[in-house]
Amino acid sequence: MTEVHVSEHPLVKHKLTLLRDKNTDSKRFRELIREITLLIAYEALSDLAVCPKEIETPLTATTGYKLAEPIGLVPILRSGLGMVEGIWEMIPSAEVWHIGLFRDEKTLRPVSYYNRLPIHPTVSVCLILDPMLATGGSAVKTVEILKNWGAHRIKFLGLIGAPEGVAALTAAHPDVDIYLAALDSHLNEHAYIVPGLGDAGDRQFGTA
Ligand code: URA
Repeated sequence: MTEVHVSEHPLVKHKLTLLRDKNTDSKRFRELIREITLLIAYEALSDLAVCPKEIETPLTATTGYKLAEPIGLVPILRSGLGMVEGIWEMIPSAEVWHIGLFRDEKTLRPVSYYNRLPIHPTVSVCLILDPMLATGGSAVKTVEILKNWGAHRIKFLGLIGAPEGVAALTAAHPDVDIYLAALDSHLNEHAYIVPGLGDAGDRQFGTA
């Protein structure tokens, strides 16, 4: 059964409001995506396994911890790219595997155009990164790609979700937990999230 986590953290609420504001410029927009992602990832990774690690402090020997599982970040091109940096600062050893999808205008289904995943899985936890969980088509397809690759523990990290996207991902992959900064009202006729923040790719890359 999917767990849908919508952050209640005051810092997330504050920063997300700045991110949504149409007057926020691209530089600040990118900084905010990095900062909010870091906060969401902190919540999403609270169940990571650790193993004991012997170290010496300046005073004595003691047992600490180190992360026990290799972690993979899977940004969906192109708007997921801005979410990588924040988590990478925290977990520099994370592997990054990009996935590129486009929408087939006949079938309206997402088709993969970029995927350099190696033959065998190299990580035990995969975090799919996409700021907007809109229709859910890209997220569903990316989970499918990762499962075919052999990934077992997959989480979806987004900034804003629409009920339609959450329902689609939950129905297709009930074993994938969803972490969001906010769950918005609905999709408009162009599949944009309302109130949302507009086009997350254009606003990051200054291409509006
Ligand atoms: N992608 C975006 O960038 N924004 C939306 O609102 C929906 C999908």
